[in-house]
Amino acid sequence: MMNDKHSAVAWIVAMALALVLGACVAGDGTLEEIDPEAAPLNPTYSQHVAPLMDLYCTACHAEDAQPGEIEGYGYETCDKVRSGWEDLVETSFIEKTMPPGGAPRITSAHQLLLERWFDNGAPCD
Ligand code: HEC
Repeated sequence: MMNDKHSAVAWIVAMALALVLGACVAGDGTLEEIDPEAAPLNPTYSQHVAPLMDLYCTACHAEDAQPGEIEGYGYETCDKVRSGWEDLVETSFIEKTMPPGGAPRITSAHQLLLERWFDNGAPCD
């Protein structure tokens, strides 16, 4: 029989999985279809934005990236994401040319999160 501590851990693991799966499902819709709840209200750089940049961009756009920082576009620090924001919007949200080729595209839920972060003043905490 499970004691309370174990069931509490199991519950936390289940909720974490549900969140991850929920984010994946939410990412399949268009931006208009996205539930505003799908992105945190106050995204932070360290908790939300940096992991997304690592997921989508920094394999190619960072000083220590395989090809080196491509064309001077790095996305591995908060300041760089801020200064490269217009280009990120242009390439990744509007033209959808970045990430290139078969690399995973930014999902609608992740776009919503990034836009919300920027609209909140792009805090670097
Ligand atoms: C698989 C490697 C790779 C990934 C991942 C990648 N890029 Fe790029 N990016 C490139 C290459 C190569 C170029 C230069 C040639 C070109 O434009 O295709 C480039 C160019 C750019 C440019 C310069 C303008 C332009 O259109 O050439 C911007 C801005 C940019 N990328 C933003 C991003 C952002 C933001 C992400 C993440 C959402 C991202 N890239 C992900 C490889 C990548």
